[in-house]
Amino acid sequence: MKLTINPVKKLRGTLSVPGDKSISHRAVMLGALARGITEVDHFLMGEDCLATVACFKAMGVPIEGPVAGRLRVHGVGLQGLREPADVLDAGNSGTTTRLLMGILAGQPFCSVITGDQSLRGRPMARVTGPLAEMGAVFLGRDHNNLLPMAVRGGRLKPIHYQSPVASAQIKSAILLAGLYAEGETSVTEPTRSRDHTERMLQAFGADIRVSGNTVTLKGFPELKGLKITVPGDISSAAFLMVAAAILPGSEVTLQGVGMNPTRDGLLDVLKQMGAGVEIINERQQGGEPVADIKISGGKLQSTKIAGPLIPRLIDEIPVLAVAAAYAEGTTEIRDAAELKVKESNRIATVARELKKFGVDIEELPDGLVIRGGKSLTGTTCQSYGDHRIAMAMAVAGLGAKGQTVIEGAQCIPVSFPGFNDALKLLSVE
Ligand code: S3P
Repeated sequence: MKLTINPVKKLRGTLSVPGDKSISHRAVMLGALARGITEVDHFLMGEDCLATVACFKAMGVPIEGPVAGRLRVHGVGLQGLREPADVLDAGNSGTTTRLLMGILAGQPFCSVITGDQSLRGRPMARVTGPLAEMGAVFLGRDHNNLLPMAVRGGRLKPIHYQSPVASAQIKSAILLAGLYAEGETSVTEPTRSRDHTERMLQAFGADIRVSGNTVTLKGFPELKGLKITVPGDISSAAFLMVAAAILPGSEVTLQGVGMNPTRDGLLDVLKQMGAGVEIINERQQGGEPVADIKISGGKLQSTKIAGPLIPRLIDEIPVLAVAAAYAEGTTEIRDAAELKVKESNRIATVARELKKFGVDIEELPDGLVIRGGKSLTGTTCQSYGDHRIAMAMAVAGLGAKGQTVIEGAQCIPVSFPGFNDALKLLSVE
């Protein structure tokens, strides 16, 4: 599918973005492992989260919906999952796969997970390694690194894992396996990654504590179902925020966006680059901070993005590279080698596609250098099946001269169904 983007003068208006992808996945998973009903509102109807729902339905969890963002999970308890009769299909979703592997590691049955072409090329040894140490048995290609992966779980022993990378998927997989280990399981990260699993486990009643970069969980808790209203996804809002920031005269308000401090690095960077960023109506929603965000566009300046900031905006780097292309001066992005193992190699795909617009951009082993400020010319882009590359290039096209076509745009609903409608609604031609 092709998405055609015509340049616009500016963006104006107010809207709310779809529910947070990370939180939606976790609501289904913990709802399934709890006792009682978990009611979820503003659930992300994106393909990734629908894959998670399908996997848990296949393991015998009664789930009503999702219909229009509402979902009711009838929790089966920690020991209530059933052996799936067929291969579990995680589609494009790394979060589904890695978190599910943590849960499957604790199940006394055999299961097989696979996914689409992109997912089958992504590294899984980062979770199968520590989960095997806990006692689970894996069988997969490339020394248990690549899907399809067979898992034979069972009773686990707790570990204290020192993760070489800041990754919420690694941390969450081990913590979820830790639910099935007698005693205390802990994970220490070099920098803290997103903490939605910790927050939600606590809300469901688990015994979990955080000290510095270490999270510790006690095995076999009593998890109780609850009501969850999922905040708007800051990673989806990011595309509209950057679009507003690069188009002078824009003013866009996004309502009910998740403001978790492990996720809001984009706001710091946009402020630093000179965009107007106003945070309004801050509130708490089911253990997560939420606010309305007003972005005003203007002339942007270059910046440096590196170090502990990286995990706080890892999924926003493709669209931040677009902001940098529109900013005056040289922007450097470092310490972001993790981008190479996302839905595409995002260092390579961002550089390749932005070059087509005439952007002066250089690839580094752990980031990008973007010499911004030159005008962009519309072009034909590839998505590489990566939703965030497709949307980032669509944003680049809004401020370019002439039309831009995004090929392979059918991946956008992986995380942001309604992206094009949202752009149209805000566009002033
Ligand atoms: C996610 C964690 C991040 C992020 C992904 C969602 C999660 O991945 O890029 O989109 O929900 O836990 P890593 O854990 O690989 O950094």
